[in-house]
Amino acid sequence: MGIRVQCVTTRDGYDEFARLPFRVYGEREAWWPPDIQNEIALLSGRSPLSNHLELAPISAHKDGQLVARVTAVVNRRYIEHWNEPLGQLIHFEALAGQHEATAALLEQAIEWLRERGMRAARTGFAAFLDYPYAIDNYGALPSFLLRGNPDYYHRYLKDAGFFTEKGQSDYTAELTPEMRSHYEKIIDDVTGQGIKIESWREHGFLGAVDSWTEVTNAAFARHWGWNPITRAEVRPMMASLRDSPVADLSVVALADGKPVGTVFSVPDLTYVLARVRPGVKLDPARGGGTRGALINIGVMEPMRGRRIATAMASRSFLTMAQQGMRYAGYTLVHDDNWPSRRTAESLGAHVTGNFVTYRRDLTFER
Ligand SMILES: CC(C)(COP(=O)(O)OP(=O)(O)OC[C@H]1O[C@@H](n2cnc3c(N)ncnc32)[C@H](O)[C@@H]1OP(=O)(O)O)[C@@H](O)C(=O)NCCC(=O)NCCS
Repeated sequence: MGIRVQCVTTRDGYDEFARLPFRVYGEREAWWPPDIQNEIALLSGRSPLSNHLELAPISAHKDGQLVARVTAVVNRRYIEHWNEPLGQLIHFEALAGQHEATAALLEQAIEWLRERGMRAARTGFAAFLDYPYAIDNYGALPSFLLRGNPDYYHRYLKDAGFFTEKGQSDYTAELTPEMRSHYEKIIDDVTGQGIKIESWREHGFLGAVDSWTEVTNAAFARHWGWNPITRAEVRPMMASLRDSPVADLSVVALADGKPVGTVFSVPDLTYVLARVRPGVKLDPARGGGTRGALINIGVMEPMRGRRIATAMASRSFLTMAQQGMRYAGYTLVHDDNWPSRRTAESLGAHVTGNFVTYRRDLTFER
């Protein structure tokens, strides 16, 4: 009995590990449950991302109960791309009042990274794997994909030697008639300059998915925290969305027939994916069938500054309005990404949620 920290290696262990969020968030009025099968596939090395990762899921039990978990990751693509021996701690979740067990868990995860030559650890940002920690809106339904962690996570992480490495914001725009006319005007201006703006459905969905991969790799090449991705891993992730509203809400911009910008957007997925207690009424600006979200936007460098991003997002937001949505999210912008912040502001969006990514330097002994 007492505290036991160990690497998880069995199918039952993965299952227990993947289900911990139900004990952290399960009593909330509304929350996004994890995709258990997907998570187990990743933990057991059967995900399309697995070829690029070495990972160790680690759990902390107290008196026989799972109380905290984290997965230590050596992400070879990140390390090669940035030439930085930085390890990542993903899947971090912990119950309240488990300071000692959580400290032991994080120490073991750091040790695992150190043994593999990592000189820093990051938690709260890794392409396709991890998202930042919320610093406001505690208890409310977060935007799709984002964390709605409890406030005490910050105490656990700072006591374990982490510091804030990056701040991020989530924006929301209200799709008023005035904003919709503004969006139409921007699209007219940009298409008048010879840029074609098409939905992924108009462009051909599977071709648009490949264009998204190429444009994203080019546009995000120097974007903090990102690492290159491949068509082979993106195709299976996106293929099932072909006949969904994603195909109408996501956008490609073409110059001389070539893709120069892409947007990936989703409809309001609250009633498809979230758990909402019966009778609970959500703030329409946060979800409940009224808030679509732009998840990713990129424009190739030589084509920037021509309002292509604003026009693509405008097209996506207008389609959301046609589908009955009243708000549009513009999800997760680094605080120092001024081009993206300005794009959000041009779309009439305001900051509605704040997040941080943590880092711990392993070369400096505390
Ligand atoms: C962010 C990004 C998509 C903007 O694309 P873009 O087509 O150049 O943007 P637009 O021309 O539509 O400009 C939108 C607003 O940003 C402003 N802006 C554009 N580039 C800027 C820059 N380098 N610095 C400051 N403001 C800038 C524009 O002036 C415009 O504001 P305005 O309407 O008040 O005049 C593009 O810079 C990009 O792909 N960056 C890398 C990937 C990325 O960061 N994506 C967003 C992740 S959240």
